[in-house]
Amino acid sequence: MPDELNLQITDLMAEAKGVMVIELRSPTGEALPPFKPGAHIELHLPGDIVRQYSLCNDAREDHRYCVGVGLSPVSRGGSRHVHQSLRVGDTLKVSPPRNHFPLEEDAPGFVFFAGGIGITPVWSMIQWCEANKRSWHLFYLVRSRQRAAFLEELKVFGNRVTLHADDEAGGVFDIASAINQQPSNVHFYTCGPTPLMLAVEAAAAGFPEEQVHFEWFTPKEPKSTATDKGFNIQLARSGKSFGVPADKSILQVLEDNGLRVESSCREGTCASCEICVLEGTPDHRDSVLTAAERKKNDVMMICVSRSLSETLVLDL
Ligand code: FES
Repeated sequence: MPDELNLQITDLMAEAKGVMVIELRSPTGEALPPFKPGAHIELHLPGDIVRQYSLCNDAREDHRYCVGVGLSPVSRGGSRHVHQSLRVGDTLKVSPPRNHFPLEEDAPGFVFFAGGIGITPVWSMIQWCEANKRSWHLFYLVRSRQRAAFLEELKVFGNRVTLHADDEAGGVFDIASAINQQPSNVHFYTCGPTPLMLAVEAAAAGFPEEQVHFEWFTPKEPKSTATDKGFNIQLARSGKSFGVPADKSILQVLEDNGLRVESSCREGTCASCEICVLEGTPDHRDSVLTAAERKKNDVMMICVSRSLSETLVLDL
């Protein structure tokens, strides 16, 4: 993974009510590390706040990154700072792009479900589909039109975009009916709030798992449960062993013992703390790995996932 980048804010655009798009470029005009649709970057904000935001611009562009930031009503500081304090000309430390929501480029067709600010990775995906002449349809589900980012850009696609605004429709969209009408070989990509993700997951249960893709903003599973037990970890490279008590994560135990491991969200949604598992069976609680990846049990997110076996041997 290349080092963090120092990028300058070159534009700040109010894209919709409560949605700000930030454009970042190299202050020296250098090309930025490439990315593919579905990738995100991390912005390092004052107060040691690190937040992941999906890239929303055309992935063929190498001169800028654009991210859309929705102002959260329960902001823990990240989105509020972006909306209220950032200015054009400010420099931010930015992690290079990572992607755990990649497009299956050979898919015969793409069906996108975007809920609110979940449009950001999907807009980059649509631009890729257009550049590559691929078949797609977007279900864009918002509370109101005023809060819907990129509406102007999407207008040109006519009936390939189904916009559902709850306040106009007087209720929520019928996701199951929309999914039932799709051909059996399409790939679904969904990004948005948890109720949308769960509704798509349930409605698409009849499709092969590898055709249904999610980008979770918020953890899918609880980090801890009342029945959590302690277990042991052995670090294969350093030869160290530690006990992980029921009320601590592997990541916390490593940090308590002076070991530095890369991490960011600390809630299982970003994959920055992914570690290879050499022996033992993880109890996966992240929102990143697919069901097939979980079954392999060869990697885990140590900020949230625990162990089903007494001991885990980790590649650390
Ligand atoms: S720190 Fe983000 S998944 Fe673990």
